[in-house]
Formats: sequence, structure tokens, C-alpha cells
Amino acid sequence: MPIDKKFIDQFVNVTSKAAIASSHFVGRKDKIAADKSAVDSMRSELNNMDIKGEIVIGEGELDEAPMLYIGEKLGTNNGPELDIAVDPLEGTNFAANNLPGALSVIAIAEKDNLFKAPETYMEKISTKAKEKNVVDLDYSVKKNIFNLSEYLNKKPEDLTACILDRPRHNKIIAELRDLKVRIKFISDGDVSGALLVTDEKYSVDIFLGKGGGPEGVLAAAALDTFDCSFQGRFLFETDKDKQRAKEMGIEDLTKKYDLNEIIKGDSIFCATGITSGDLVMGVKNEEDKFISETLVTHKHSGLKKVIKLNQKITR
Ligand code: FBP
Repeated sequence: MPIDKKFIDQFVNVTSKAAIASSHFVGRKDKIAADKSAVDSMRSELNNMDIKGEIVIGEGELDEAPMLYIGEKLGTNNGPELDIAVDPLEGTNFAANNLPGALSVIAIAEKDNLFKAPETYMEKISTKAKEKNVVDLDYSVKKNIFNLSEYLNKKPEDLTACILDRPRHNKIIAELRDLKVRIKFISDGDVSGALLVTDEKYSVDIFLGKGGGPEGVLAAAALDTFDCSFQGRFLFETDKDKQRAKEMGIEDLTKKYDLNEIIKGDSIFCATGITSGDLVMGVKNEEDKFISETLVTHKHSGLKKVIKLNQKITR
């Protein structure tokens, strides 16, 4: 059953409020305070909603996160059962240092339709090519680029790949450079990075590399509505990670997940800018109001747009 459209505005309100709360800490070199204010606001807004919500991706396990922990139940309990994935502040460095790209993000699906992801790294790939076998996590960088080049009818040197600028990506970066592919390096924020394939205006043809697993699931939720492709493979490195994955019901620890194994059925995705970035403008404070922008998608209605909100400042 689709998620009622009335919830779209309510979830836009949730990320907008969290973004405004966090914006007070932008440029204050305090990641923890910026994150905490977004978490507190998001939790309290979600608790006011007429939903039976459960956090499937949040701030961590109960023993490490007192709020928005995986398994936490939210809402008034009067309403649809929903799986909720949150990243109240995506890009803590961006917010702390007043750099572009900090977002407040949420994704919602009907109960049992959103992957319960542990806090580990994930190998990811996204492109605008929805068809299978164009790009694949199991292909070499060269094969992915050649296939994409043929699919998009562009030469490899006219393609742009987005990747987190990390030493762990040196091999991929060297391969992309050999193929003369242009690279868009991002210093953080790979929810946004993965979504740059959704529109020509971002000039990104493929996103790849290792980043946070939760961020991968959040990006997949939006990519589903944009009809783009996404694959992810969790990287369980420590014994603790492996044990936790087993407890969460993940049997094959090396499995590659296609988008629709990560998110199924209807979904809503909202990302509000805290600082201005590629996807949306950051929170602006004008006279007696806050202005915020939210990228919102709703799978069932095909909605994908940026919503601008003015919220009165109450002192
Ligand atoms: P935070 O908001 O938790 O700081 O995460 C930012 C981020 O860049 C994510 O977008 C990305 O998935 C992850 O960190 C990458 O992790 P690492 O910095 O360890 O490479």
C-alpha cells in the first residue's frame, strides 16, 4: 500500500526543523553539538507524528546512541507502520567548518521494506543507467567505464566519476585517470555524491567507492524514485561487525545488494540543506524567518522536487 501523500509535508517538516536546529552550530567547530541539535529536533518531531515508526538506520546501536538508535520506536502509535532511516546531520565536518554540503536526511518505507543496515562501510556504485549489466560492483573499473561510455554514447574522457577523496580509493582513482575519466572528488557527504548521477545539471555519470553503509541505504531510497541504479556491498571487517550482521539477520556477509533489495515498495526521501551544496541551498536566516530547501522524492507519485519553506522564528 502506498504511503499517504499527507506524510510528505510532515517529513519535509522533520528534516527542515532538524536542519534549522543544526544551522545554529554551523562554523562553530563543534561537530557533536551540531549533530546533537539535529538529532534532538528530529526525534521530537517524529514522536509528534501519527505513525508507528521504527528506526532501521540511525545514530547507532542502543549502547552507543541514546536517541534515534536502531530499533527505537517513534510516533504516537496511531498510524501506518513505517521503517525509518535517518542521518540528522550528514556531513558533520561540513557543518562544523561551514563548508558546502551539510544535509539533514530521512528515508521512509513501509514496514519491513527498508534494509536494516549496520554501521559499517559499504562498497557502492550508482549511475543513471537503470538497465542491468551496464555497471556492476563485480566488474572492473575499466569494464564499468567502457560499458557506461557505450550506453551513454560518450567517450570515456567525456565521462565524470564522483568519488570520496580517500587513500583507500587510490587504485580506483589511478584506473579512472588511466582511462582519462574526469573525477569529481568529494571530501565528505556521499549521500549527495551518489545522487549527483540523477540529473545532467550535476555533470556526474557515475558514483563509486567505499563510504558509510547507512549513507548508501539513504541514497538508494532517493535513487529508486529517480529511476537510477545503485548497488552496495557491506564490508564487515571486524569480528564485532560480523557478529552484529549475523544478529541482524544478514547471513551472506559478502552479498552484493541491488537497489530493490535495499528498498522495496513505496518510499519518501527528504534531504534539507544545512549549508548550501550541490543538491539544495542551506538554511538562511532572514529577518523573522528561516528559509530552507528540501529535496523530496516520493516513489508512488513519482514526485521529485525541491521544496522551499519559510518558517517563522519564534523567540
Ligand atoms: P558524517 O556526517 O558522519 O561525518 O559522515 C560523513 C561521510 O563523509 C559520509 O558521507 C560518508 O559515507 C562517510 O563519512 C565516509 O567515511 P570516512 O570519512 O570514514 O571515509
